[in-house]
Amino acid sequence: MPGKITFTMVKPEATTSGLAAKILSMITDSGFRIIALKMIRLSKEQASAFYEVHKDRPFYNDLVEYMISGPVIAAILRKDNAVEDYRRMMGATDPAKADEGTIRKLFATSIQSNAIHGSDSDENAITESNFFFPEIERFY
Ligand code: CMP
Repeated sequence: MPGKITFTMVKPEATTSGLAAKILSMITDSGFRIIALKMIRLSKEQASAFYEVHKDRPFYNDLVEYMISGPVIAAILRKDNAVEDYRRMMGATDPAKADEGTIRKLFATSIQSNAIHGSDSDENAITESNFFFPEIERFY
């Protein structure tokens, strides 16, 4: 597969406030190709499992409740250096610390409601992509 993948989600507050199309066009304008895409409302079990790595953190329960509060838009993105380039474009987890022009600086409302998720490593990009998308729903 030429290029690498990363996984992203437009989180509930950004999806329900109509920001998804704007965010997806920023993504494709920056040279990422969307190879899988769906809108879905996660169950509590799915959100808990997706963020299991954070289960001992004080924000875990609130994070799960937030992630099931509305629909998300999940996507697999392909580009050379996808994980690192997308993290740069996404900005810091806390929008107050995010660089100007990043998606979170532009659209996030708090450290929890931070507009989008993006994979933090190539390994997690594969795990997270597999969580949402079977091969038949991917278009390389
Ligand atoms: P994300 O990149 O999806 O990965 C874990 C999520 O947990 C993060 O974005 C935030 O939505 C949330 N999160 C991380 N740190 C905190 C925090 N200190 N307080 C509340 N939520 C947090």
